[in-house]
Amino acid sequence: MAHTIAVLSQKGGTGKTTTVRTLTDVLRRCGVRTLAVDLDPQGNLSDYFDLPTDVEPTVADVLSGRAKAAAAIHEDIIPANLSLAEAELMLGGKMGREMTLKRALAKATGDYEVVLIDCPPSLGLLTINALVAADQALITAEAQYFALQGVEQAIEVVELARETLNPELTLLGVLLNLADIRTVHSREALASLQERFGEAVFETVIRASIAYAESAERARSILDHRPDLGADYLALADEVLARLSGLGAARKRLKQLAQSSTT
Ligand SMILES: Nc1ncnc2c1ncn2[C@@H]1O[C@H](COP(=O)(O)OP(=O)(O)O)[C@@H](O)[C@H]1O
Ligand SMILES: [Mg+2]
Repeated sequence: MAHTIAVLSQKGGTGKTTTVRTLTDVLRRCGVRTLAVDLDPQGNLSDYFDLPTDVEPTVADVLSGRAKAAAAIHEDIIPANLSLAEAELMLGGKMGREMTLKRALAKATGDYEVVLIDCPPSLGLLTINALVAADQALITAEAQYFALQGVEQAIEVVELARETLNPELTLLGVLLNLADIRTVHSREALASLQERFGEAVFETVIRASIAYAESAERARSILDHRPDLGADYLALADEVLARLSGLGAARKRLKQLAQSSTT
């Protein structure tokens, strides 16, 4: 069964989409069959993968029952667009509304080893659907004074999902993103996260760089756009693989990939 990872945070701009896009790239380059699911009506992940804007069906069609998840997979991505906002509203009035994504994905993910879900910038019904469909949660935080508070809110929602709807759900880790380690407030944000959440916090910190905006604009992976920065995501992928079962061979391939990208 695929490891299904929901990438979430209580607000936008914490690097969720960039993390899903880049982890997907790294895992695929290590031979891990990876499905990326865009669950944000803004469709940033779909754009970042350079899918055509009119590609159909999308995750909105899946959630509203108009399409099967398997039909919505395009180049190993289930895309989203603004129609997801409407689908979310419709979903709100339905029985089993929190289970809809889980039920839909169950029949479509058999061929994948990892499924990464990019959540919208809120802890509402779509994010709950991701947490019910997932067995792991990855929380992203922006290196700011108030990072701790945001992560606490996200963890509360993860715990709520575990207690009520998905007892299998565990916390994969907390990722500090957009860090400028030269600044005091980045270092303090990391220290406070580590103090509060201990080993759940990934050792890897994703450094801030304007190159990420360029990479998104050009729909080009940071691994190709700026391999020196991409090294952060190789290190993160190594920690992620170490926390997932049955992916040891991929970890070996990752080591080779890391060596060849530095030489
Ligand atoms: N490490 C980084 N350094 C600087 N900017 C980044 C970094 N990661 C992402 N960004 C940029 O920050 C913005 C928000 O990132 P994004 O991944 O879209 O976050 P979210 O999905 O949580 O809203 C985007 O413009 C993205 O290109
Ligand atoms: Mg996003």
